[in-house]
Amino acid sequence: MCGIVGYIGKEEKKSFLLNGLKELEYRGYDSAGIAVLKECEIQAYKATGKLENLANKTSNFTSEDFGIGIGHTRWATHGKPTEINAHPHWGEYSYVVHNGIIENYREIKENLQAQGIKFLSQTDTEVIIHQFEKYLNEGVEIHEAFTKTVSMLHGAYAILIITKKAPDTIFFAKNAVPLIVGKNDKGEKFLASADSPLIGYATDVVYLEDGEYGWLNKEDINLFKKGEKQSIFYKKLKEDKLCAQKEGYRFFMEKEIYEQSSVASETLMGRVKDSSIALDELEGFDFGQINEIKICACGTSYHAALTSAYLFERLSKIKTNIEIASEFRYKEPLLDTKTLFIVISQSGETADTLEALKMAKNSGMKTLAICNVDNSSIVRLADTTILTRAGIEKGVASTKAFATQILTLWMLSLYIGDKKGSLDKETLKSEVKALAHIPSVLHVKDSQHEKIRRLSKRYLHGHGFFYIGRDIFYPLALEGALKLKEISYLHAEGYPAGEMKHGPIALADSELFTIALMPKNTLYDKTKSNVEELSARDATILAISPYEFELADDFIKTSLQEHPMSEFFEMMLITQLLALEIAVRLGNDVDMPRNLAKSVTVE
Ligand code: AGP
Repeated sequence: MCGIVGYIGKEEKKSFLLNGLKELEYRGYDSAGIAVLKECEIQAYKATGKLENLANKTSNFTSEDFGIGIGHTRWATHGKPTEINAHPHWGEYSYVVHNGIIENYREIKENLQAQGIKFLSQTDTEVIIHQFEKYLNEGVEIHEAFTKTVSMLHGAYAILIITKKAPDTIFFAKNAVPLIVGKNDKGEKFLASADSPLIGYATDVVYLEDGEYGWLNKEDINLFKKGEKQSIFYKKLKEDKLCAQKEGYRFFMEKEIYEQSSVASETLMGRVKDSSIALDELEGFDFGQINEIKICACGTSYHAALTSAYLFERLSKIKTNIEIASEFRYKEPLLDTKTLFIVISQSGETADTLEALKMAKNSGMKTLAICNVDNSSIVRLADTTILTRAGIEKGVASTKAFATQILTLWMLSLYIGDKKGSLDKETLKSEVKALAHIPSVLHVKDSQHEKIRRLSKRYLHGHGFFYIGRDIFYPLALEGALKLKEISYLHAEGYPAGEMKHGPIALADSELFTIALMPKNTLYDKTKSNVEELSARDATILAISPYEFELADDFIKTSLQEHPMSEFFEMMLITQLLALEIAVRLGNDVDMPRNLAKSVTVE
């Protein structure tokens, strides 16, 4: 997720911009840049890597007296993390910074290129500034030019533009990603992606709504929506920076669970079409030569891999097998160049997964990474990568990264099925419809979270948890158990529901807590009978299902979804919140659990 800052005033601009970007570092980034406009001259600087690289580049630059400035930290979604792709992007006399994804950037770019406009970067963002200047160069009045440009954009965006044509004005627009306007009694004006860069500068802020846009100068702010001028309602800015970074949530993990709905929209953006999937990253990839898929990963990413095996075999009709990377490395595996080798990793730095990838590369296999961090070791090594676009995940216990991995793998299974002709158009259309519905499924219902919080007090002891499910709900059971183990330190195991009779049921008694995943769309009756076996032996049952289950000691009702994957994501949310609330009651450090690291870069 990128970060944006903007400033209008007489104070030294570089320091506000760099300090502001530093306050947004927690969002993760791989490059950064600033641009300052003063007396009709614009100075711009960009650098890859950490902000100190940008600070070094600008060490001899200062900007006193009145002027305006914009700054940006970039989390790569389109185009590698290079200086050329870093923001700001510029035209002839204007500069833009952008957070989000312009879903229709290809059409806009092709249209502009056909008119002879040259592009420097691989980004979606650059189309904004060239479209804006195209209108200006055609004589369109500047505010109209900005309004027309914004009205062309589809997707998620928080945009700031500065231009020599209006040296005291910052143009802004907001849709689906945050943008805040601030002011103080010194006449300074501010813009930022979050509260934290504004603390200590602004006193009053307005949180822009989706679809709002306008322009800001030292006198005032002009705010519009659908062409209608909007009234401005400022509110006082809170003062606590860490709280601001967590945006009011108790932990980064909680914030990341709540972010899953919006982050899922970004993962799908530009990839889910009306009745097909577009993965530009795989353009020219010949799946005709592929007759098997092998996936290697660790931990939560391994659970995503297990889930995807059901999807690849059902939808792509390709034999798929899943390996734990630390086992794969030493088993002397038989590798075949007709096998597509996929690695899944949030960090892109997990040692075992990276070594497994090297083995596949050395054996001449085609390799694909599903990863959240561009330019990571795994991304740099794989033949190609599909980024999950989850933004930085600070909680050690993975949540939104897992959700976006599943979405990406589901899209990949449909894409391959479509390319190989093994998926009929009707099925593809209904699957795409179900995919597009997931962001709304991932929206946390306050009432359900509150119920889980209250319920969690009953699950703080006992001699262990069984998480059980069938089909795709078996890897979800594994993941739910891992979430609980990681942050509550209580023992939990995930099991295929059908395995109970083969030994585990010996553990059943009132102190064994069973979290039963009982979806309506997948083997409900068979799962129900497995849960009845446990209940008959007095195990304490927490049933998660759209159907009432009278033998449950506790019950969390889910909605009547039409697609098993919708049920999967809804139950995933519940297991994440259950682990969170149990850990909170136990007083554990949810974001930094004992013994764990966010990225396991050693064996
Ligand atoms: C997930 O909650 C854990 N933090 C851990 O299992 C993690 O999934 C595993 O270490 C793999 O990490 P990666 O996805 O960055 O490769």
